[in-house]
Amino acid sequence: MADHLPSRWRRRPVDVLPSPNIWYHRDVYECENEAQDVDGEIWRVLRSRCDWTGRDVLDLGCGDGFHLSRFAGAARSVTGVEPHPPLVAAARARVAGLPGVRVRHGAAQRIPLPDAEVDLVHARTAYFFGPGCEPGLAEVERVLRPGGTLAVVDLDVTADPYGRWMRADLPDYDPAEVDSFFARQGFRCERVVTRWRFASAAALESVLRIEFSARVAERALAETVRARAPGDRGVEFPVTYRVLSRDKPAGLVPARAQSRSAVSPGSGTSPRIP
Ligand SMILES: C[S@@+](CC[C@H](N)C(=O)[O-])C[C@H]1O[C@@H](n2cnc3c(N)ncnc32)[C@H](O)[C@@H]1O
Repeated sequence: MADHLPSRWRRRPVDVLPSPNIWYHRDVYECENEAQDVDGEIWRVLRSRCDWTGRDVLDLGCGDGFHLSRFAGAARSVTGVEPHPPLVAAARARVAGLPGVRVRHGAAQRIPLPDAEVDLVHARTAYFFGPGCEPGLAEVERVLRPGGTLAVVDLDVTADPYGRWMRADLPDYDPAEVDSFFARQGFRCERVVTRWRFASAAALESVLRIEFSARVAERALAETVRARAPGDRGVEFPVTYRVLSRDKPAGLVPARAQSRSAVSPGSGTSPRIP
């Protein structure tokens, strides 16, 4: 990295994936998080994959901690791990006073927890975007207890309308390659259709502007506002997610099965979909 940059930037590890949406527009990202999955479909699928009641949960790439409290009521403990220091501070402030919840500075490739410490690792639109995330997968295997689950929640770039807007800005992103990467790594994938709902067109516009280029944001806004029900001041549309999950074997694994699921070197070209 260039020498003229301040030392704090020179020291920044390159494996932290920039997330301009939440790094630079936290208030708008909060509005986006509130508008997402208003019917709780993703939570329903997550629960069916791994019920965290009485268990230890890690939210990896937790951002400013928006999802931590959703686990807190039922889980025995909840740990948020986040590499961007301002977000670590924001997440700590958000969960202050919530018993059993803590936030640590770290990254998927260097999880600041001992071996076999948690039962569920949840990563939502963070780091696990496909080829290149193998170091994080290996770290997750280390911190999961036998029988524990990794659940990766990400957007489905193939499903319209949101996927069409994403594809317009990410012409090189190859969803089939990403799907086959996760299948090779032993993940099961469920596509989950959710509903995003904004209280006003202005709220939606602010979110579209941090997620897309100006051209795509304008097109998306016009499309959604045009499709709104008569008399409805709010705006809503479907957004499909992929919930990818993989269980760590609970017992002895035959040698051949172990070598099939071994971490592969990967290309290091993880697409950036913040
Ligand atoms: C789009 S945000 C999502 C935040 C949070 N999961 C949520 O849903 O509100 C992506 C997050 O991943 C974090 N991140 C970037 N590189 C990472 C890495 N190597 N390991 C873990 N998290 C990472 C970013 O700092 C950011 O907070």
